[in-house]
Amino acid sequence: MSTARIVVLVSGSGTNLQALLDAADDPDYGVRIVAVGADRDEIEGLARAERHGIPTFTRRVSDFETREGWDNAMATLVSWFEPDLVVCAGFMKLLGQEFLDQFVTLNTHPALCPSFPGMHGPRDALDYGVKVTGATLFVVDGGVDTGPIVAQTTVPVEADDDVESLHERIKVAERT
Ligand code: GRF
Repeated sequence: MSTARIVVLVSGSGTNLQALLDAADDPDYGVRIVAVGADRDEIEGLARAERHGIPTFTRRVSDFETREGWDNAMATLVSWFEPDLVVCAGFMKLLGQEFLDQFVTLNTHPALCPSFPGMHGPRDALDYGVKVTGATLFVVDGGVDTGPIVAQTTVPVEADDDVESLHERIKVAERT
């Protein structure tokens, strides 16, 4: 069986990255995480990669004159690791077309696309009053949580949910 080379991009706590790191420890999973990249320093996601002995890199948008410059720098760095796939795991920046033209890129969204796109999927689902929400795995295109859907899983909204409890249950569902 061939092993897929994956670069994971993170911006935060990296619990989804951790699930991938744990899964990839099993050679039968068929995935090798070759690098973890971020758009900010000192985040737990990078620390998780470092503890696993995986190379990391950071490029902050604010260090570039233009968004295109940042996008280009990210694409160059990612290309050094020759990935078969890029996976966004809580990566909070939109990648530009130049990047997306070079790499098949997957992302997860904590809602059932096309509902509740953007940064606040769990909050927006709660505010709307839906009784079922969930998580979506999709191929990143130029839009906000608009790309082709690969898989979805549902999560019931409980009467006493707040944003945090709902998002936490969605994250558990995302990891399984
Ligand atoms: C997940 O809910 C994911 O759907 C969203 O960001 C969250 C990432 O959490 N895009 P973590 O950083 O993996 O803990």
